[in-house]
Amino acid sequence: MTEPRWPADRRITVRDLQAATDRGERWAMLTSYDTLTAQLFEQAGVRAILVGDTSSEMVFGYPDTVAVTMDQMISLVQAVVRGTSRALIVADLPFGSYQGGPGQALQNAARHLKEGGAQAVKLEGGRPVLPQVRALAEAGIPVMGHLGLTPQSVNILGGTRRVQGRGEAGDRLAEDALALQEAGAFAIVLESVPAELGRRVSDSLHVPVVGIGAGPHCDAQIMVWQDLAGLTTGRVPRFVKRYADLAGTLTTAVSQYVNEVASNTYPDDAHSYG
Ligand code: KIV
Repeated sequence: MTEPRWPADRRITVRDLQAATDRGERWAMLTSYDTLTAQLFEQAGVRAILVGDTSSEMVFGYPDTVAVTMDQMISLVQAVVRGTSRALIVADLPFGSYQGGPGQALQNAARHLKEGGAQAVKLEGGRPVLPQVRALAEAGIPVMGHLGLTPQSVNILGGTRRVQGRGEAGDRLAEDALALQEAGAFAIVLESVPAELGRRVSDSLHVPVVGIGAGPHCDAQIMVWQDLAGLTTGRVPRFVKRYADLAGTLTTAVSQYVNEVASNTYPDDAHSYG
């Protein structure tokens, strides 16, 4: 009998993700910020769930990812952990929770593991955060890097829609990726870069490269779940594929409910106690 490739009775670890990448298997990551969606995504085969700082926009309604706090993130991480038993849970370190140095990073990453119940953390940036990545890895905390478009730097980038890593910037990004791997990152998210750079970075690293708008050559992919499900509306980046129209489905359902309440057809006898 062949060995099951993914564990059925325990949480996936960073070693399982590395093993999948080593055998050439592509795996999917998705964001989640609550118990019910986390449970569904795990059942659907998502191997790792990111409790992202995109919660700042998707849950709390801020215009960017800068505002969300550690305390807010920890509540969401707890909810996602409660809804899952097999997926690896990666908790984002929000803006201002690690840029202060390795000590600050260690303290907040430990909170994500001890209070939140996550198994790993993610932070943004290249060379400037290498001391933080080294400190976390040495303390036994799996840390995921994030290069390319780094939305926490929105105030310097002047927006979060621009493709990164074109021309010489691509060389610097590829060097940053290698440096993060050497510092101990177990995987790297690569956001909004040309597909060719996605291929180059994935080929040059042995740790998994998780693409979002980084083309088809990355070892794994991640998306913000509300983008995938069509819950976000308006203009979305080119890499977003709508796998459903949840905004349409929900609007239709709620309009119907509103109309039935107005016309007194809900609740009917079938939905009332005798
Ligand atoms: O916070 C987040 O959701 C992310 C993904 C976009 C990778 O960092």
